[in-house]
Amino acid sequence: MSKVSMTVNGKAVSGDVKGNTLLVEFLREDLRLTGTHVGCDTSQCGACTIHVNGKSAKACTMFAAEADGADITTVEGMANADGSLSVIQQAFQDHHGLQCGFCTPGMVMTAAALLKENPKPTEAEVRHYLEGNICRCTGYHNIVKAIMAASGQDVSAIAAE
Ligand code: FES
Ligand code: FES
Repeated sequence: MSKVSMTVNGKAVSGDVKGNTLLVEFLREDLRLTGTHVGCDTSQCGACTIHVNGKSAKACTMFAAEADGADITTVEGMANADGSLSVIQQAFQDHHGLQCGFCTPGMVMTAAALLKENPKPTEAEVRHYLEGNICRCTGYHNIVKAIMAASGQDVSAIAAE
């Protein structure tokens, strides 16, 4: 076991982890931040997407020890300070960007990373950026629409499902 310390959603946290403890396990099981989901454990589905030092990362592909000293944001850290939904979360709700919701935390974190890098993405750019996030329910159209809307663009011409 070794001690790790990091900042998660603005709070300093620490814990004892094994060398093979995944970051997603540390977040979910030690910190009880269960908004970060595990869909595959093999870096394919994107349900575990978080931000590490401001960049999106799949928490199932990192050991907790690798995140020692890092600044982590999970979906629990995405709401506004008053607890209301962030612009991206609200857009997912408004444009029906989710059905079962399993993929949604990862989608929200990926969308936030995209809009930070590219505040006004085209539809094609949104679809390309979502390549690492799988959704079994929605067919993606409403997710794309939600992200475009969150960027402040007119989405009235984008087909809904
Ligand atoms: S659980 Fe990490 S990519 Fe699927
Ligand atoms: S909403 Fe069900 S997996 Fe995306």
